[in-house]
Amino acid sequence: MDGTVTSLVVTGIGLLVTNDADLGTGPLGELRDAALVVDGSDIAWVGAARAAPAADEAFDVAGACVVPGFVDSHAHLVFAGDRADEFAARMSGAPYTAGGISSTVTATRAAADELLAAHAGWLLAEMRRGGTTTTEIKSGYGLTVRDEARTLAIARGLTSETTFLGAHVVPAEYASRPDDYVRLVCGDMLSACAPYAKWVDVFCDRGAFDVDQARAVLEAGMRHGLRPRLHASQLAAGGGVQLGVEIGAASVDHCTHLTDPDITALAGSTTVATLLPGAEFSTRSPYPDARRLLAAGATVALATDCNPGSSYTTSMTFCIALAVREMRMTPAEALWSATAGGARALQRSDIGVLRQGARADLVALRTPSYVHLAYRPGVDLVAAVWRAGRLVG
Ligand code: NIG
Ligand code: FE
Repeated sequence: MDGTVTSLVVTGIGLLVTNDADLGTGPLGELRDAALVVDGSDIAWVGAARAAPAADEAFDVAGACVVPGFVDSHAHLVFAGDRADEFAARMSGAPYTAGGISSTVTATRAAADELLAAHAGWLLAEMRRGGTTTTEIKSGYGLTVRDEARTLAIARGLTSETTFLGAHVVPAEYASRPDDYVRLVCGDMLSACAPYAKWVDVFCDRGAFDVDQARAVLEAGMRHGLRPRLHASQLAAGGGVQLGVEIGAASVDHCTHLTDPDITALAGSTTVATLLPGAEFSTRSPYPDARRLLAAGATVALATDCNPGSSYTTSMTFCIALAVREMRMTPAEALWSATAGGARALQRSDIGVLRQGARADLVALRTPSYVHLAYRPGVDLVAAVWRAGRLVG
């Protein structure tokens, strides 16, 4: 079976995770011995196998677990070069700093559009094979009007979830006048990039932008119709989380160094705390305190942060395993955060859930349970991936 289907019934589902508590048991809405019908790009029916309606085609997953496609709500895929030497130095004790971004900026500025697009496309294909059916892609390695606009245009060719991150770091040529760079980001750069972007982001942290600069960037983006999200408190606690909550950001990402007021603010808001454990793994840093966030009632998402500096992985299943082993999330919490949590972080209700009317984004695992995503780390457990009803992996 291949290409576009008219209707398809997925049969033999030993365990179906719907993420809709009304459809099954527990917070994941789990259904045993289930079937699911796809019609075109959407889900037409979900329920008990014995009650499944007929469809044009059938695909038997032989007792496997089926979960919603992973939603990777934070990735930096458009760049050139790599920083393997920087990683190796870190593993020998060197610290991670925001300054490493500049070497990727140099390589990206020098790269042709075709190379950048091909490389981002390979990373996206890697994601699809791994079960990721929605990917957010940021700019942030161009840092000139031209290079931010062209990298965002490339991102727009790959996803509708595009994010303008001109305020990633202050580039070397503006080192002595960072406020001039913020003015450029809020002015000509934003005007050139807004047509390709849905979101505006800023790296509000030590060595990057302070709270006032971050507010200026996010508010300028909002005036251009972009929705705010931000990187904050990855390297040090600061005011970025509170800023994000105050302006109604869809998510605050990293959240590695949170204060009690940060947690209270997130828990009392609709702003999602997006945790990126691949970054702590790859920078050998302490992991965020997911349990404190969950106990307070905050919404937690998991994403890869795929980028050449702090987290060069496209694997959501690796991030799930890290979240369970290192951040003490339960396998169920980690799976929810990697699917429905990511959908919340992107303010999407059509993905991250398997119910009638949702987009048919689903992953058949080779295993009877989603617990294996953490229990069998580093193993390819993805048997089949459908995105918008099409078999893509
Ligand atoms: O999300 N924190 C800021 N940006 C990226 C790292 C980028 C890099 O080191 O190239 C991140 O971790
Ligand atoms: Fe990031």
